[in-house]
Amino acid sequence: MSTTLDGKVALVTGGTKGIGLAIARKLLAEGAQVAICGRDGQALEASRGALGAEFGEERVLGLQADVSQLDAVKALVAGVSERFGRLDILVNNAGLGVFRSVGDLSPEEWHAMLDTNLSGVYYCCHEALPLLKAAGRSFIINIGSLAGRNAFAGGAGYNATKFGLLGFSEALMLDHRYDGVRVSCVMPGSVDTEFGHSGTGKPWKIQPEDIAETVAHLLLMPERTLISRVEVRPSQPAK
Ligand SMILES: NC(=O)c1ccc[n+]([C@@H]2O[C@H](COP(=O)([O-])OP(=O)(O)OC[C@H]3O[C@@H](n4cnc5c(N)ncnc54)[C@H](OP(=O)(O)O)[C@@H]3O)[C@@H](O)[C@H]2O)c1
Repeated sequence: MSTTLDGKVALVTGGTKGIGLAIARKLLAEGAQVAICGRDGQALEASRGALGAEFGEERVLGLQADVSQLDAVKALVAGVSERFGRLDILVNNAGLGVFRSVGDLSPEEWHAMLDTNLSGVYYCCHEALPLLKAAGRSFIINIGSLAGRNAFAGGAGYNATKFGLLGFSEALMLDHRYDGVRVSCVMPGSVDTEFGHSGTGKPWKIQPEDIAETVAHLLLMPERTLISRVEVRPSQPAK
């Protein structure tokens, strides 16, 4: 079993806050060099600066990119390759949730979720796979959701993207396992972030650091073994 990510290069999409930022911090703590992206330039610079101060500027790259745009993803992956010369770990974390009944969900909101949560993941995988295959012993971690298993009222658009992401992840795993690329889908329940404006600070929620810990466990499994799907729940959710 590996004990460190020394020498590995990771890209965490949506790494500027919440779960993505916690994953970026954990991968840096385990020895990797890490690139993060997001759409908001100010948030990106703040998080890149904080991670750089903590772990060393040379180990952290921040690139502004909207993963729902193919050209932006091409530039993102090229930027990582240019700076670090390789890519070992892609964490597809960037995601959006708009929670309304189908009658109230606008076509723009529907497309924003599909374009980020599904097409964005496909774009990132498609563009990164040449680098991941070249690196060997590489990983794609998709941040799905328990909403990819359990439908709920007001979740139709989000449910569609996360159910879809689970199918995409499993097929991706089968497509590229013999290329030396392992694929896992991490499916959290409620995590204490600003996501979906559901409110932060609820003590029963999963902490972003707990999801980062889960990701690190997956990455450090023996090479012969792949945990392809992980469901992570609050142990005692609000009743
Ligand atoms: N929080 C939960 O309860 C929960 C539960 C299960 C699964 N998840 C999943 O976990 C992931 C992260 O969620 P979170 O709770 O950490 O949310 P968050 O705090 O809102 O953070 C989302 C991150 O994604 C970025 N992002 C959003 N759209 C993007 C796009 N089109 N291109 C690039 N970056 C984009 C955001 O930055 P910008 O806005 O600047 O782009 C931000 O860095 C999502 O995939 C979500 O579906 C969350």
